[in-house]
Order: sequence, then C-alpha cells, then structure tokens
Amino acid sequence: MANKKILIVPGDGIGQEVTGVGKKVLDAIAAKFNHQFTYDTALIGHVAIEATGTPLPDESLAKMKASDAVLFGAVGHPAYDNDPTAKVRPEQGLLKMRKELGLYANIRPIKLFDELLDASSIKPDILRGADILFFRELTGDIYFGEKGRKNNGDTAYDVAEYSRYEIERIARKAFEAARTRRKKLCSADKANVIETSRLWREVVQQVALAYPDISVEHQFVDATAMLLIKDPKRFDVVVTANLFGDILTDEASQIAGSMGMLASASVGDGTGVYEPIHGSAHDITGKGIANPLASVLSVALMLDISFELQIEAKTVIAAVDAVLKAGYRTRDIANATTQNDKILGTQQMGDAVLQYLTT
Ligand code: IPM
Ligand code: MG
Repeated sequence: MANKKILIVPGDGIGQEVTGVGKKVLDAIAAKFNHQFTYDTALIGHVAIEATGTPLPDESLAKMKASDAVLFGAVGHPAYDNDPTAKVRPEQGLLKMRKELGLYANIRPIKLFDELLDASSIKPDILRGADILFFRELTGDIYFGEKGRKNNGDTAYDVAEYSRYEIERIARKAFEAARTRRKKLCSADKANVIETSRLWREVVQQVALAYPDISVEHQFVDATAMLLIKDPKRFDVVVTANLFGDILTDEASQIAGSMGMLASASVGDGTGVYEPIHGSAHDITGKGIANPLASVLSVALMLDISFELQIEAKTVIAAVDAVLKAGYRTRDIANATTQNDKILGTQQMGDAVLQYLTT
C-alpha cells in the first residue's frame, strides 16, 4: 500500500476543470488498489496574482516541496498576452516552479491511440504506429538567461546559455530511456549556427560513448520539425533544448490527434510535476468542453514515474483506451467525417474513464 501526498495546482483557465477530473482518477486508483492518497491545493499563475500579487507565492512553493508529486493544470491569461509591457506575468510562476524544484527534464510522450487515427490532420498511413518520447531540457536556455532592453528600450535581448553539466544530465536521461525502448536517439539542435547548440552536440556525442547500444543521430531542429510530419515513425527518443522542445512538442501533438491528449512529466532533483502540455485555453474555459484526457494521462505518468506504481499506471491508460474504443470523444478529437462519435463534455468524459476504472 502506497501512502502519498499529492498537491493539486490547477492554475488558470481550463486547468481547474481538467485537474478536477485527474483527481477523481487518482481517487479511483487509490480505492481500487488500496492506496492512500491525501491532497492539498495551491495557487499559481493568474489566480495567484489576483489573490496574492505574485504568480508563485512562497506558500505554494513550500507545499510543492513538501509533496510527493504535483498535479498541475495550466497558467496564462489573455490580458497579459496582449500586454507585452506587463512586469508580473502568470508564466513567471511556472518558470519559477521549474527552476526552484530543479525540474530539468520534461518528458513528453507522443503516442497515438489507434482509435484517433482519423482525428489527426496527418494521413493515417504515415501515422500508424508512431511512438515518440521527447526529452525537453527545462531549466536552461533562452528561457532563463539574462533578458532586457537597451538603447532606450528600442533593442531587446535574451541570452541563451547552457553548461556542459546541464546538457549531460538531460542527455543521460534520454539515453537511459532509449535503452528501454527501440534504442534510437535523435538529438535536435542548431549547431550550424548557435554556440550553445555546438556545445550541446559535443556533449551529446561524449555521452553517447557510454551507450554503444543506442543508435544516435544529430539533426538540425528545422529538419527535425519537417521530418516529424513527413515520417514520424522514424523517431524513438528525441532530446532537445528548452525552446526547441517547446516548439517541437506542440507540433508533435498533432501526431497524437490533439493537444488535449498529451501529458507530460517534469522531473529532476525533487518533487515531480505532472501536467498536460496544453495551455489555459481561455476561449473554452467554463464551457465544460475541454478534453480532460491529458490530465488523466498525466496521472498515469505520476503513478508510473514518481510512485513506481506501474500496474496502476497501465490501468489508467487502459481505461482511456477503452473509452476511446467505445466511441466517446470530446470535441477536439471528434471525427468530423463519420459523425459516429459520442461527444462528451469534460465531466462526462471523466465519468466515462471512471466507469472503466471501477469495473
Ligand atoms: C509549455 C508552455 C510554457 C513553456 C509556457 C506557458 C511558459 O508552453 O509548458 O510548453 O513555454 O514552457
Ligand atoms: Mg509549450
């Protein structure tokens, strides 16, 4: 019997709705497998700014550090997107959380459920069997370097910085994962232009010496973006820097049919954080139509990685699979041409998963 303290951090927009479903799934797993999960909640993002003036209050950070895992929703608010001069922003909470918890590895599995072959805009023959595991570095790069303005504000700069140590530790994690899979690793960089990428390639080449069983390719990030759509099946594990990983994984989400299907794990030195890769989606907030499956699949990653409860994790994934097989869809993954799908809202989709979990 596992005894775990889980912090629910819904954040902004649809984060609230989808983490609510994720928590119900955790409860169902606890009941089914006789575990004890206890919960607390914390603020981050725009809701935290509204309540406390800061996007990641110290109290939230302390609770995160004291938890066994964090189930995270999303941060963001349109008011800030349209105000480039805002000094305090919801996203700062997310970046601070990643840095403070030492979450240097962002793991994003891109796996297409067979039933969703038609939901993607890519041809089924190209997609069938695609299964990619991204390792996005998460605490370095242009996200965290010095940034500012000069020339009376008319020139802006963001410094991209990577140390050998930072590259080495994410590369090792990616190589280790490749060992448990198809033993192929692609490192995406821009070593033809960018100095941090040249160090990246140098370090990945060195780390590769310790993994002679893994076949390694180095691709430029622009070519990687093209190949992901042209032939997604050629990829197994992909390791890349923070900014490139942010962009490539949004692109790769289309291989899985919808952003609403993609979960991620952020791990490193301390508490792991589990979250959908999608954002706060204010355009559909409060309508009850958001796809909760990315949050449900984030729960599966939490069970697998932070709690080492592999059977429980597989049970959650099997329930999602069963729900999709039964034809249940949220709008984002519905098939517009056949119209055979049973379209459900966020809560109903959650209830459908729970039904398969409890039977
Ligand atoms: C993500 C998001 C974040 C990022 C934003 C919200 C700061 O796009 O987690 O992919 O850029 O890392
Ligand atoms: Mg992103």
